[in-house]
Amino acid sequence: MDSSRLEVLISADDISRRVAEMGLRIGADYPASEPLLLVGVLKGAWIFLADLARAIPRSVSIDFLSTSSYGKERTSSGEVKLVRDLDESIEGKHVLLVEDIVDTGITLSYLMRVLGQRQPASLRIATFLDKPSRRREGVDIAYRGFEVPDKFVVGYGLDFASKYRNLKDLCALHEGGSQDRCP
Ligand code: IMP
Ligand code: MG
Repeated sequence: MDSSRLEVLISADDISRRVAEMGLRIGADYPASEPLLLVGVLKGAWIFLADLARAIPRSVSIDFLSTSSYGKERTSSGEVKLVRDLDESIEGKHVLLVEDIVDTGITLSYLMRVLGQRQPASLRIATFLDKPSRRREGVDIAYRGFEVPDKFVVGYGLDFASKYRNLKDLCALHEGGSQDRCP
C-alpha cells in the first residue's frame, strides 16, 4: 500500500501564469528571424515543455534527449549518462535546454558540457524549478519558473518511481500518512 502524503506547493493556476510570463520573455529575447530549438529533457520536462512551447509567440522546433534517471531513489547517484540523444544536429542553432528541476546541478552541468561541444549558436537553460539548497555543481540558469525548498516534489511532469507526473499542481511528497491524492 502507498503511504505517501502530498502537499500542494504551487497551484496549477500559479504555474500557468508563470509559464505564460516565461514564454513571453523567451520570445522577446531571441531574434524572430533566427531558428530556436527547444530541447526537452525527458521525462520530467514533458509537461513544462508542452506548455512553454505554446507560450512562446514565435516558431520553435522541438527535440528531446534523456539522461539516466534516479529510478526509485530520491537523490542522484552523481553519475549521468545520455540514454537518448537528439535526432538532429544543433550546430549553429540557438538551443534552449528545457528541464523540470535543477537540484544538485549534476545533470545540467553535464548536458551543458556535452551540448556545448557541438557548436550551437547559443545554449541556455530554462528550468521549471530550481532547488538551490542542494546544488553541487554551478549552472547558469537563464529562465527559472520557481524556486523550491529542499523537499522532494512531484507533479506537473515530475515523478517519484514513475508516479504523480500527471498531477496538475506541484506537490511535496512526504513519507507516511495515508493520503495519495493532491488535495
Ligand atoms: P540534478 O542532476 O540533481 O540537478 O537532478 C536532475 C534530475 O533529478 C531532475 O531533472 C529530476 O528529474 C530529478 N529530480 C531532482 N529533484 C527532484 C524532485 O524533487 N522531484 C522529482 N525529481 C527530481
Ligand atoms: Mg529531469
